[in-house]
Amino acid sequence: MRVDLLAGTHYAPAAMILPPARRPTILIFDSGLGGLTVFSEVVRARPDARFIYAADDAVFPYGRLSEAELVARVTLVMDHLIRRHGPDLAVIACNTASTLVLPALRARFSLPFVGTVPAVKPAAERSRSRAIAVLATPGTVARDYTRDLVKAYAGDCRVTLVASHRLATFAEAELAGAPVEDAAIAAEIAPCFTEEGGRRTDAVVLACTHYPLLRPRLERLAPWPVAWIDPAPAIARRVTQLLGPAPSLGPASSETSLDAPVAVFTGGKGLCPVLRQALANRGLAQIVVEPVAAVPN
Ligand code: DGL
Repeated sequence: MRVDLLAGTHYAPAAMILPPARRPTILIFDSGLGGLTVFSEVVRARPDARFIYAADDAVFPYGRLSEAELVARVTLVMDHLIRRHGPDLAVIACNTASTLVLPALRARFSLPFVGTVPAVKPAAERSRSRAIAVLATPGTVARDYTRDLVKAYAGDCRVTLVASHRLATFAEAELAGAPVEDAAIAAEIAPCFTEEGGRRTDAVVLACTHYPLLRPRLERLAPWPVAWIDPAPAIARRVTQLLGPAPSLGPASSETSLDAPVAVFTGGKGLCPVLRQALANRGLAQIVVEPVAAVPN
């Protein structure tokens, strides 16, 4: 297991570091809209790059798939995206996938992959009470990878692993203009907040990229204030370690990317006007639907 010691990112081997010479194409991939929280940070870090945001919404949510189904599906979709869009680097902006499929992706494709894994170490470093929670999909909570992170970096903490069955779907609904009631969100996060032996949770790892989309509501609905640990800035830093920093650009520089970012959906069913507007507000006005067959051809 290779894990960034500073944050919740999964290391690619140093040998994959690219020469910083030309404007790179960066693929940001998730099962749905959660990867947008990572996309924004990576765009901020490399505004000169060409971006493809890909959502495998035909199969969302990944949290309910078996491990074998998930490996097969992500490999298939990645095969399509790499052939079609030719990225220089791919960010798997999904904990549910990263905690399982990175070895298979790295064995099959030659480009560097940056993964997103639960930020247990930063949470343990931040915690004073030594009581932290990891809020994630059922898939991520069940992974050996997640359990190994807890053992390696939070051995002296009380760690509550909380599998949320609905929070990722709630985040998608909110972005599509269908607000979710406070009580429903509060019920999903409630198990994170433990108080035992005079110690109560003081840090919660947002171990699903969808959850930061709900952050203002999580903060408001928390029974007491905690540090919410979002790995997106660390992922952006890892991307610039691999690709190099953005060339220094003036505000009207001709080096700013001429290619507008493209959002690729494998299903596209949920693309209502409110969601299209939300995507446009995040710089993703160009949307294409590229179905990926269940069986490779
Ligand atoms: N955004 C994904 C993650 O970080 C998961 C959502 C899903 O279940 O598909 O784990």
